[in-house]
Parts: sequence; structure tokens; C-alpha cells
Amino acid sequence: MYAVELENITKRFGDVVAVNNVSLRIREGEFFSLLGPSGCGKTTTLRIIAGLERPDSGVVKLHGQDVTYVPTHKRGIGMVFQTLALFPHMNVYDNIAFGLRMRKVPEDEIKRKVREILEIVRLPGMENRYPNQLSGGQRQRVALARALVIEPKVLLLDEPLGALDLKIRQEMMVELKRIHHEVGTTFIYVTHDQGEAMVMSDRIAVMKDGRIMQIGSPEEIYLHPKNTFVARFIGEAINLIEGTYSGGKVDSEIGVIQLPEDVKLNDGSKVTIAVRPEHIYIGNVEGVDNVYYGKVLLKIFKGSYVEFHIEVDGKRFIVFRPFRLAEPLPDTGDTVTFGWKKDSANILLE
Ligand SMILES: Nc1ncnc2c1ncn2[C@@H]1O[C@H](COP(=O)(O)OP(=O)(O)O)[C@@H](O)[C@H]1O
Ligand SMILES: [Mg+2]
Repeated sequence: MYAVELENITKRFGDVVAVNNVSLRIREGEFFSLLGPSGCGKTTTLRIIAGLERPDSGVVKLHGQDVTYVPTHKRGIGMVFQTLALFPHMNVYDNIAFGLRMRKVPEDEIKRKVREILEIVRLPGMENRYPNQLSGGQRQRVALARALVIEPKVLLLDEPLGALDLKIRQEMMVELKRIHHEVGTTFIYVTHDQGEAMVMSDRIAVMKDGRIMQIGSPEEIYLHPKNTFVARFIGEAINLIEGTYSGGKVDSEIGVIQLPEDVKLNDGSKVTIAVRPEHIYIGNVEGVDNVYYGKVLLKIFKGSYVEFHIEVDGKRFIVFRPFRLAEPLPDTGDTVTFGWKKDSANILLE
């Protein structure tokens, strides 16, 4: 059984197709992210799941039931938004208790539940503080507690860490992952930040212009992007080489490129080959299938690794090599052999 199913959802605002024929299935208890650049339709998709927006066409199912026409308050969902301010005139306790009081839960049970959820978000003893007496990270924990305390079957989070500075954001990513694990609720997380999605998610749907470009685990979309958009959007850098397929190989701007054994295409097909920077060897190219000569244009020390920019026939490659004191690495201006094993490349068709 799936927590959420979207079947062929489309939503227009005037001329803009905000969500374009989106279908996806989110498993019970999954941490699922919608990832993509600003304006690609993430928030609209989330609002459709919440029932805050009615799709023009398509079906929304929660736990197997068609809820396309069911109002928000009957969908059993919780929500956390970046801008969803806490009630400033209420202390932490009353902010969290709010949803339970609306549901006429007895006061002693509220007390127990608020205590319990404050433990989970690690804010015990903060009951009497007011929102303006909390840090940004603590306020987000209260917002999370307020959404979780009503025990929603699905929790929707729309860029909840966007307003926090980097250090707190990184801390909160780990916290969100822990809290998800502890409560076991299905989390649907919207972000434009691939780092956040990669750290926390079980699976990610990468979106562009209202469409889903790929769905997969962080490892899958990083190692096996299906198209140039995902290849570029995920990860720090990627090398893309264009060419024409013929007889198991590709003729490209830098010469012949050998492909993974299982690739079978029609001769004459235009393809793009994607190679991650850490899969390229420099210097010692024993056992490497695709070897080229290039010039080191730039060498950048990044701590645990070194970034090289290597030029071949006017094309620039980005290469990451682990930094080990014992391993000699070339310098700027050096001519080097470099290359990759054929199995570490991905073939992109668009
Ligand atoms: N209420 C609305 N009225 C008109 N256009 C909207 C509305 N909501 C969203 N849009 C448009 O729909 C597209 C998708 O928006 P949104 O879902 O907010 O994207 P994201 O959350 O990925 O940034 C954008 O082009 C946006 O301008
Ligand atoms: Mg948005």
C-alpha cells in the first residue's frame, strides 16, 4: 500500500502549466523529496496532495483512497512551511497544543503529548518560552512539533530550512532524518537544494517545468542520471561529452569513446556521455578503457580531494582525485594522460 499516489496530475494557472501530467507513488513511512529549481511546480504538487489546490485533471490517493475531492482537514496530513510563523502571542506549549485543543483532546492528554513531542524534537523544558525567545532552528523544531503532535499520517514540508543559516541547516538536516526515523511517518519534503534532498531522502523526484525528470534513490540519481538535466542538477560537477553512436562506440569531439557492454543503440544515434569527476583517473591509467592526453589548466586544493581542470581539444574536464600525501599529483601546466573505465560512464539520450 502507498501513502500517496498521484495519477496524471495536471494543474494550470492561466498560461502556466505548473504541474504537467505528474504520476508518482510514495511508500508508507518513506522520506520522499520533490527536488527542482524555483518555479518547477514543487509547491503546487505539495498543495495538491494537501488539498489546498484542486488539480485540473488527475487523481490523488492517500492510503489507497481517492481523496481528489476530499477537503484538507479530512486528509490526515500535517504541514511545515518556511514561512509558517508560530503564533507570537502564545508560548511553545500553547503553540504545540493548538491543534489538539481544536480537536477537543482532554487537557491531561495534551500535556502528555506535548511533553512527548518536545522530547522527540529535543526541546524539553522550553514550554514557557515565546517564539521571539527562540533561535531560528528552535522555532523550526517547534513548528515541526506542532505539525507532528496531531499524529498526521503524512507530513508535508515545504523548504522548511530555507530561512536558516548553513550551519544550523546542516544540523537540522540530520535532526529531521532522526525525527523521521523515530516517528515513522511518511515525510514529503520540497526543496530546491540538492544537498538537502540527497542527505535526507529515501527517494527523490527531480522536477523541471512541471514534469518529473527522474525518480530514484540518491545513489541512483547520482550514479545513473537519465538525462542531461538530472546529470547537471545533481552532484557538484559532471563531464558531458556529445557524440554519435556507431558499432558499440561513440565518435566524439575528443576521439573514440568505448561504452559499457550493455549499451545497444541504433547506429547514428546522437548521445551524451556523462562521467563523474571522481571516476576519472590521472597519470596512472592502467586498466582504464578510455585514455586521452590533456593539459592541466587549473589545480584546486579542496581539503580531502584535489580538483583539476584538464583541457583536451578545447574541451574542459573536471576531475577529482583524493588527496593523499603519498600520491604524486600533476601541477598546473603539466601534460597528463587521463581517462575513465567504460563502465563508469552513463549514456544520456536527451
Ligand atoms: N496561485 C498561482 N497563480 C498563478 N501562478 C502560479 C500560482 N502558484 C504557482 N504559480 C506558478 O506555477 C509555477 C510553479 O510554481 P510553484 O509550484 O510555486 O513552484 P516551486 O515551488 O517549484 O518554486 C510557477 O511558474 C508559478 O509562478
Ligand atoms: Mg515552492
